[in-house]
Amino acid sequence: MKKPIIIDTDLGIDDVVAITAALFSEELDVRLITTVGGNVGIENTTRNAVDLLTFLGKDTPVARGVGVPLVSKPKTASHVHGSTGIGEYRFEAKANEALLSDENAIVALKNHIVHSPEPVTLVAIGPLTNIALLLKTFPETLDHIEEIVLMGGAVEGGNSTPVAEFNIFADPHAAKIVFDTDIHIVMCGLDVTALTSVTNEDVEKLKNKGRAGEMVYQMLHYYKHAYSDGKITIHDLCTIFYLTRPNLFDVKRANVNVVTEGDAAGCTITHFTDDGNVSACVGADVEGFRNELLTVFEGIS
Ligand code: BDR
Ligand code: CA
Repeated sequence: MKKPIIIDTDLGIDDVVAITAALFSEELDVRLITTVGGNVGIENTTRNAVDLLTFLGKDTPVARGVGVPLVSKPKTASHVHGSTGIGEYRFEAKANEALLSDENAIVALKNHIVHSPEPVTLVAIGPLTNIALLLKTFPETLDHIEEIVLMGGAVEGGNSTPVAEFNIFADPHAAKIVFDTDIHIVMCGLDVTALTSVTNEDVEKLKNKGRAGEMVYQMLHYYKHAYSDGKITIHDLCTIFYLTRPNLFDVKRANVNVVTEGDAAGCTITHFTDDGNVSACVGADVEGFRNELLTVFEGIS
């Protein structure tokens, strides 16, 4: 049986690659996509979700979530993903607007989770605003969630500040709620996303890998400008490959404290301990990761 997952996303360029890989995976059943403000505003992240699903010919429902962080001021990463979130790429087909649910993301998440016959894995690849609100509003969903696999944080370093990664920095209070919840969390942080960066050569190879390959090639061609050292980091894809190819990753148990205020806001202080609720990804098979990226797009017709 395929593993049921829900993806919560601030749909930017690396989110597109991750979601596409998930939708065509033999291991995963994507039941719902929920959107959150982050890389760009909620209007664009939601539009991108509907447009991407239309382009890929998928009928996964989309529910629009919360556009602003719980407490802090909104921050975007449009300098990385462009003003619409997908660089200069434009989806041309008329969008299948029927994919967009009338329910807001928090209610849609609750309904999908509690009505699923099997526990659902939440894959969070944006700021954790929706997930924190879900856990606080509908704590009964906890019994039906297998685990949360998220892209965010870092054992060491940051990309928004010297000590904070964007998804956590963009809503540190939400991140604190999630990490402090008694649930198993897989943290794909910068430690492992930076390690699994791909090269310009890998991106070029995607160009000839069908319609989906050509689409992500064009977006990554834009995205490269943010990675002038040539290490193109498709952060969010780590969450999907963690689920489909767990052997690619080394994990270490930890507890994670999120700093919510001050100069270190968004920092994920990671205490390694066998009793921790977090499996922090600390190592990866880099060659295996790059090969898997190409294999996935090779397989999409
Ligand atoms: C994370 O922030 C966003 O810009 C990316 O989509 C990814 O989820 C990387 O720090
Ligand atoms: Ca993202």
